[in-house]
Amino acid sequence: MKALPDSDPRSFKQQADVHCAYCNGGYHQVGLPDLDFQVHGSWLFFPFHRAYLYFYERILGSLINDPTFTIPYWNWDHPDGMAMPDMFNIKDSPFFNQNRDQRHLPPTVIELSYDGPNQENNMSNDEKVRQNLSVMYREMVGNAKTREMFLGSPYRAGDDEPTKKSAGSIERQPHGPIHNWVGNPPPNTLRYEDMGNFYSAGRDPIFYAHHANVDRSWSIWKTLARKNRDFKDKDFLNAYFYFYDENAQLVKIYVRDCLDTKKMGYDYQPMDMPWLKSRP
Ligand code: C2O
Repeated sequence: MKALPDSDPRSFKQQADVHCAYCNGGYHQVGLPDLDFQVHGSWLFFPFHRAYLYFYERILGSLINDPTFTIPYWNWDHPDGMAMPDMFNIKDSPFFNQNRDQRHLPPTVIELSYDGPNQENNMSNDEKVRQNLSVMYREMVGNAKTREMFLGSPYRAGDDEPTKKSAGSIERQPHGPIHNWVGNPPPNTLRYEDMGNFYSAGRDPIFYAHHANVDRSWSIWKTLARKNRDFKDKDFLNAYFYFYDENAQLVKIYVRDCLDTKKMGYDYQPMDMPWLKSRP
């Protein structure tokens, strides 16, 4: 993917820019040229990123001629995954990226509620792990009792750009803090590039492993309680995005086709989830 010419929509450069286009005013709402289209901070967050990873994965699979290829997820909700995975920290590997917080390279334990360098605290690793597990419990259960609380608020044609407040629980935390924790902080960069900024996040290969686990959290949430269901609202189901597929063809995908991973050809293996027992 990295070896493809930049002009190819399947190239890593263009795949990374897809994220920028959908977050930094690259598109307007259809027929509403004064309103930017934004995929963060609303019920579009989970389906957009699922569809984005879906085509990213298909492109990679076709480039290596392996239709069974799947993106690995960064298992940051489990104590064994609470550091940047080593595979992303090998110089000269395609997964490497220079633009990360150098104090947070493995084996530094992550803080899922990270709030910037001023908040860097001196907790022991055990304390961080314990805190992370209660963050996970809170955002998957306590703060995720309704679809709005978990998936985010409605975002319909004509609405202004969503704000942080309208984001779902996992999007706000740990999703956002992980972006900032990985990114290279000021004054080295303007604002936590690459991972900590919408326009540049897709340039770090770890982005896709991070979002694979965000995607997994959506699947898990739906298994935690019978009432944990997707919206049935037509404005949700009929929303759509454009991507390039593995044949470099422009394709349109509807939110309604992103709700069931099995129909999209993948599933998550059941795993131990210690945070389920970490009610704060
Ligand atoms: Cu489109 Cu993790 O952000």
